[in-house]
Amino acid sequence: MIRQPIGIFDSGYGGLTILKSILDKLPAYDYIYLGDNARTPYGTRSFETVYQYTLECVKWLFAQGCPLIVLACNTASAKALRSIQQKDLPHISPSNRVLGVIRPTTEKIGTLTKTKQVGILATKGTVLSESYVIEAKKFFPDVQVFQHACPMWVPLVENNEYDSPGADYFVQKDIYQLLSLSENMDTILLACTHYPLLADKIKKYLPETVNLVSQGDIVSESLADYLIRHPEIESRCSKNASLTFFTTDAPGDFDAHAGIFFGKCIQSIHTNLEIP
Ligand code: DGL
Repeated sequence: MIRQPIGIFDSGYGGLTILKSILDKLPAYDYIYLGDNARTPYGTRSFETVYQYTLECVKWLFAQGCPLIVLACNTASAKALRSIQQKDLPHISPSNRVLGVIRPTTEKIGTLTKTKQVGILATKGTVLSESYVIEAKKFFPDVQVFQHACPMWVPLVENNEYDSPGADYFVQKDIYQLLSLSENMDTILLACTHYPLLADKIKKYLPETVNLVSQGDIVSESLADYLIRHPEIESRCSKNASLTFFTTDAPGDFDAHAGIFFGKCIQSIHTNLEIP
């Protein structure tokens, strides 16, 4: 059986929320998920570090036979994708492709707002990169984007505290800070793949008129469309409906935690990212 899976990458567990939507939409393909749990979080790290870590993971996924990789991580998409696409891909794997989550999201976001004011909740790294502001302007010049970084949210989720009363403190504080930037936001985007786990808490502190948007369906629709528009890549993605999970940290920890994001039990394999 030839396995040329689609690679789905995140700094940790967050990308599983995207993988879940991709599997609902495109169940026939083979997939490899790679979580760089040993080095998460990426959101507080420098551009250079996120780029180096992401590039290492991309090379490893190519070595597993992936013709196509989705960086299911906003931080990696913001800080590493462009350099990988423009600088590295032409010599490491010119016929392979790496996609991110920011472009598909910004292509869509302007269609979801009536007031033309959108709030973005993301890691510090994504916010400082200004990627959402820059990209959204290209597609929707009349939409104003307000950003707020939530540095405590990924650690709360990664440490299984997303449902605790302690999480309420940080969620409430960050939501109020975002809402204080403008009174007219009708759409708020969870621009970090970890954040959907906090969605119920976030909604508690949002006015009912605000639409809270997660990226899973947006990214899976965009991937489906990409595969239609790029038959040369699509034909290289194998279809045996298989799914493999790798983590750079302890598989036992990954398996115990990953089900919360994925909604099903998972059995992962450890990798130290060495390429034979
Ligand atoms: N889930 C990642 C994102 O979408 C970030 C998590 C992290 O800080 O590593 O930005």
